[in-house]
Amino acid sequence: MVNLKGRDFLKLLDFTSEEIEYLINSAIDLKNKKRHGVPHRYLEGKQVALLFEKDSTRTRCAFEVGAKDLGMEVTYLGPTGSQMGKKETIADTARVLTRMYDGIEYRGFDQTIVEEIAKYSTVPVWNGLTNEFHPTQMLADVMTIKEEFGSFQGKKLVFCGDARNNVGNSLMVVSAKLGMHFTCCAPKELFPEEKLVEECQKICSRTGGSITLTEDIMEGTKDADALYTDVWVSMGEAPELWEKRINLLKPYQVNMDVMKNAKENAIFLHCLPSFHNIGTTIGKEIYDKYGLSEMEVTDEVFESSHSRVFEEAENRLHTIKAVMLETLR
Ligand code: CP
Ligand code: NVA
Repeated sequence: MVNLKGRDFLKLLDFTSEEIEYLINSAIDLKNKKRHGVPHRYLEGKQVALLFEKDSTRTRCAFEVGAKDLGMEVTYLGPTGSQMGKKETIADTARVLTRMYDGIEYRGFDQTIVEEIAKYSTVPVWNGLTNEFHPTQMLADVMTIKEEFGSFQGKKLVFCGDARNNVGNSLMVVSAKLGMHFTCCAPKELFPEEKLVEECQKICSRTGGSITLTEDIMEGTKDADALYTDVWVSMGEAPELWEKRINLLKPYQVNMDVMKNAKENAIFLHCLPSFHNIGTTIGKEIYDKYGLSEMEVTDEVFESSHSRVFEEAENRLHTIKAVMLETLR
């Protein structure tokens, strides 16, 4: 019997396959309840703190709406306006917040920061994205795969792009944990770290999953069930990196040729936000500077019948709600 009460949610490596599946099933149940208007204010009166040192739309809204749906109240602390990091250490901030709140979410930089908050807190701490991992995103992604295909076991998930970022790392971990076949298509210098690859391969030997790293996008995406990509420069990275990344990753763009190389019924996933047109400030700047009107994914694929990106975005709410519910109830 899975019981996650009191647990932190910092990275998926800390969780068993059974526990991850349990959270996904809880999210499916909560989604049904929300769809059918079944009240689920199971955490009435509790308080959560949301610490964001980086920007967010989906993660913040999912925590806020999720908490409120569960009957809780939230305090949002953004990149400015609190004492954290400037006048007060992480450890002191954590020891203050843990006395006022029932749960704490953190989005920011090094994984060591969220681990330190957890060390000094007596209430559950949830990772809303760090440089290394994005575990709540993974639950939404595999939930979307399950909704589409009925299961995730044995499915081939291919990530194209900057594979050593938080999303690439976490997809490799969740695939290993759930017995999926994970392929990363990237230039060698953007392959995930060897130590993490080895750890995931060890997990695969128990779960039946597999990890493949390739520089050949057509070989890697062949017969895929799901193609996934993410921005080429992540939050917190230097804007000067754009030129280098564009040169490195342009051959790894998910376009219709790549999409068609996957299975006929394959889906396209993206954690979002995405540069699939020039409708954003950064997208426009890149276009003016490098003449590129779409980056990690073409607008054609993004808007195609393969795309499940908005289902995936909605599932952020249900999965984050499941994480809060199961660790607090
Ligand atoms: N996918 C994701 O984490 O989106 P936000 O940055 O909007 O939270
Ligand atoms: N890799 C991206 C993910 C955003 C959700 C970033 O860290 O900016």
